[in-house]
Amino acid sequence: MDELGFNKIAAAVLATGLGVMMIRELPHIFMHSDAPEVPAYFVGSLEPVTSGAAEAAPLPFPQADWIGAMNAEKGAKVFKKCTSCHNADAGGGHGTGPNLYGIVGAAAAARGDFKYSGALTAARLAWDYETLNSYLAKPTKFVSGTNMNFIGLKKAEDRAAVIEYLRVAADSPLPQPAPAATPEAVIETAEGEQAVIETIENIAPKIDGQ
Ligand code: HEC
Repeated sequence: MDELGFNKIAAAVLATGLGVMMIRELPHIFMHSDAPEVPAYFVGSLEPVTSGAAEAAPLPFPQADWIGAMNAEKGAKVFKKCTSCHNADAGGGHGTGPNLYGIVGAAAAARGDFKYSGALTAARLAWDYETLNSYLAKPTKFVSGTNMNFIGLKKAEDRAAVIEYLRVAADSPLPQPAPAATPEAVIETAEGEQAVIETIENIAPKIDGQ
């Protein structure tokens, strides 16, 4: 590369570095000299949040362990709790509950020839993984007034397993879900940004000194 080209790149890197430093230093410049050494702006914590309400907040759905529990073989066993009212066979008829073939990813209360409760119809749900997981945990709590007179599946592993069983009972099964980002992953991204800033700060004086 010719020297002019290199100089242009060096100037660009330097300008970026200076810009970042300016942004970081501005609050200090404008702060009164005897003011306490606290930043005048909030950039968000780079430390994992370990206290207060954030700790109690549920992790976003689905986490890797839930996806890991998606097991059609186990799901077939769990589904025995459903077979008094449902089947998931292609072209199978309705029982007390509707036929469940192809239900994962489908609109709720949409099997034309089944008489649903007004509650489930009015809820206008789509059976994505999270909605199914919530409904199967405690149907009457999630859709108050549903006709699905079933106590629910307490264990998350059982729900993941039976949902996998239902997922593959379809002409074109929906792909399995991807794990949701955890707060830790968001923090890692913030740390990555911090590393880029530090790299620029290291490079800038070196180019300056040439
Ligand atoms: C006692 C009977 C009964 C049992 C047991 C039962 N269900 Fe249901 N299920 C129903 C009825 C009735 C409905 C329709 C609900 C409504 O209209 O509110 C329903 C609806 C559903 C729906 C929504 C269907 C649609 O078309 O929107 C799903 C999904 C479902 N059940 C899954 C299950 C699974 C999985 C199990 C077992 C873990 C189970 N059910 C156990 C009776 C039952």
